[in-house]
Amino acid sequence: MSNKFNLWLKDEISLTKKNKLHRVLTQIDSGMSPEIMIGGKKYIQFASNNYLGLTLNNDVINYALKSLKKFGTGTGGSRLVTGTSILHNKLEKIIADFKNTEDSIVFSSGYLANIGTISSIMNKNDYIFSDELNHASLIDGARLSKSKIIIYKHNDMKDLEKKLKKLKDSKCKKMILTDSVFSMDGDIAPLDIIVELSELYGCITMIDEAHATGVLGEKGSGASEYFNVQKKIDICMGTLSKAIGSVGGYVAGSKTLIDFLKNRARSFIFDTSLPTSALSASMKSISLIKKSNGPRNKLISNMNLLHKFLEKNDFNFIYSGTPIIPIIIGDEEKTLKVSKLLKENGIYIPAVRPPSVPKGSSRIRITLMSNHSNKHLDKLKKVLKKIQKIK
Ligand SMILES: Cc1ncc(COP(=O)(O)O)c(C=O)c1O
Repeated sequence: MSNKFNLWLKDEISLTKKNKLHRVLTQIDSGMSPEIMIGGKKYIQFASNNYLGLTLNNDVINYALKSLKKFGTGTGGSRLVTGTSILHNKLEKIIADFKNTEDSIVFSSGYLANIGTISSIMNKNDYIFSDELNHASLIDGARLSKSKIIIYKHNDMKDLEKKLKKLKDSKCKKMILTDSVFSMDGDIAPLDIIVELSELYGCITMIDEAHATGVLGEKGSGASEYFNVQKKIDICMGTLSKAIGSVGGYVAGSKTLIDFLKNRARSFIFDTSLPTSALSASMKSISLIKKSNGPRNKLISNMNLLHKFLEKNDFNFIYSGTPIIPIIIGDEEKTLKVSKLLKENGIYIPAVRPPSVPKGSSRIRITLMSNHSNKHLDKLKKVLKKIQKIK
């Protein structure tokens, strides 16, 4: 490595450190259950997106194992060459049925699904209306498309309409792009109003159901089901890596949309397909989610318990209506300190800082699981109260 390059790297890292934004990776030495092992010590974690605890579900593991034994560890090719097995096709049918759409397509991750979908559909003449708190993968997809990006205030439908009105006569494609559950604030986009505006102003609606899949709606299929707008969403993207407990991203929609993406989405075409063990895990998880809403109800009950506690004790938290419950601290250094104090008291919740959230809104992002017990929650409440006194 040239000296000049090495110095540049070091300078950049020093700057990140000076701004209290430097990150190091924490090694977790156990599976992702409510109790985890780090450096030989046990912690209760409130930080994973494994909302229903399915990554360690025995039925899911056994189903994935069967597939691993039969099909092996990899597919050895992209979907258009050797990478489409019977299980890829089967999972896509299962997702379409779950999401109540004509068809679906599976990518290797949610990130790849977003960048491939947005950039293949939108181009430099088009307009993307994007919520200011959208996930990085939506932002990157929009940037990659070279479209003109118009950012509207978070969940502010008046601001969105004001911006749509200005371009109402444009003949170019227009897309409204939003998370359905926002990854860092946990709140829900008003999809009922978004689909109305989209219809009124002739837009394509694309939503990201990463944190809603398996969590919201009577059957757990997401926010499009919760708002009963499944048939009005043009592009319904989600991930298999959070409540579904596996890995992969999907887009659900019309047969024509899926055919288009199979032919044009570069992150689908030029990428080795997912191993079948991951697909089987997703299939089993979806079937368990459809079969019983017991775990989802327990998740809601955990959410309500924590909301009540935070409200009663005057924490500066966002009332989200989902298992993502952020306590806003603001300052980066202070947030790091709170996270450290939590860890010293046996609770693992990393600090969330820019660029994951806007500057000045650093936070402790609590995420709940259906298998957090009352004992886990009691411990969290006790430690939060203790820390509140120290601050
Ligand atoms: C809202 C949102 N969209 C997309 C993604 C990307 O999904 P994946 O982790 O499957 O790449 C994530 C999380 O990582 C997310 O939070």
